[in-house]
Amino acid sequence: MNIIEEIQKLKEEKNAVILAHYYVNPEVQEIADYIGDSYYLSKVAVDLEEQTIVFCGVSFMGESAKILNPDKTVLMPDMTADCAMAHMADAETIQKMRDTYEDLAVVCYINSTAELKQHSDVCVTSANAVKIVKALPNQNIFFIPDRNLAHFVAEQVPEKHFVYNEGYCPVHEKMQVEEIKREKELHPDAEVLTHPECPEAVCRMSDYIGSTSGIITYAGKSDCKEFIICTENGVRYELEKQNPDKKFYFTETEPVCHDMKKITLEKIRDVLANGENEVHVTQELRENSVKPLERMLELAK
Ligand code: 13P
Ligand code: SF4
Repeated sequence: MNIIEEIQKLKEEKNAVILAHYYVNPEVQEIADYIGDSYYLSKVAVDLEEQTIVFCGVSFMGESAKILNPDKTVLMPDMTADCAMAHMADAETIQKMRDTYEDLAVVCYINSTAELKQHSDVCVTSANAVKIVKALPNQNIFFIPDRNLAHFVAEQVPEKHFVYNEGYCPVHEKMQVEEIKREKELHPDAEVLTHPECPEAVCRMSDYIGSTSGIITYAGKSDCKEFIICTENGVRYELEKQNPDKKFYFTETEPVCHDMKKITLEKIRDVLANGENEVHVTQELRENSVKPLERMLELAK
């Protein structure tokens, strides 16, 4: 039996389902039952029949799935796969902002720990942040942890006042205007598709800004045949699979999230076999952090 057959057999035996983010290795994307961006995966996670969810992504994703589905078993192929940005805010600053601004909503990017979510009013992902911030009744928005996504949203919602937090994704933050200009010189007809975690200056020179799913959908619909992709290189797999006639270029230093790449077929097989790496969230933390997640799912509908 090869490893893929082993995983399929274990999945049936354990009544398990595999969810994967677009940034994981291609061979993992290939065996996943559901693959998508953070918003899609959080939506899917609440409607699953299987008892066990194997989450191929970083820890905030598995944690959110567990918070939304406390009766399910959520397994992480690698417990050390973490998102650096998820920790780049703190409860003291949130409280300070609440004391400073009246009519404040604390908007928390889903790329955050449950510890941060529990102090927030609503969660968002890059796919639904604009829609949700527009729908909030509050005039002042403290957006955590990502300053780049915050600036992108603020531009789309100029009627609200934004307070920024100094968090960022170390992978997207590295994207440089000069690199993209060089790619543009090499491929002048290419459209630039960018994730909003990229620096503002990179977003400004883009033809489209959106979540990983947004980028994939845009590339499929566009009449253009060439694209410069400003996000993590895992999306290449789905982009090329869906569009064999189109060309996708990344910057010279192709961005890689090394935490996402920790997920391997061997680790998936092992957690399915031994049930290790289960996500646990205390009842108190779960009760407090589920509210902003559920509010997100409601407002994004
Ligand atoms: P998406 O919201 O597009 O899934 O992005 C998640 C992420 O981690 C981006 O770095
Ligand atoms: Fe976090 Fe950046 Fe990796 Fe996304 S790409 S999981 S934001 S470190």
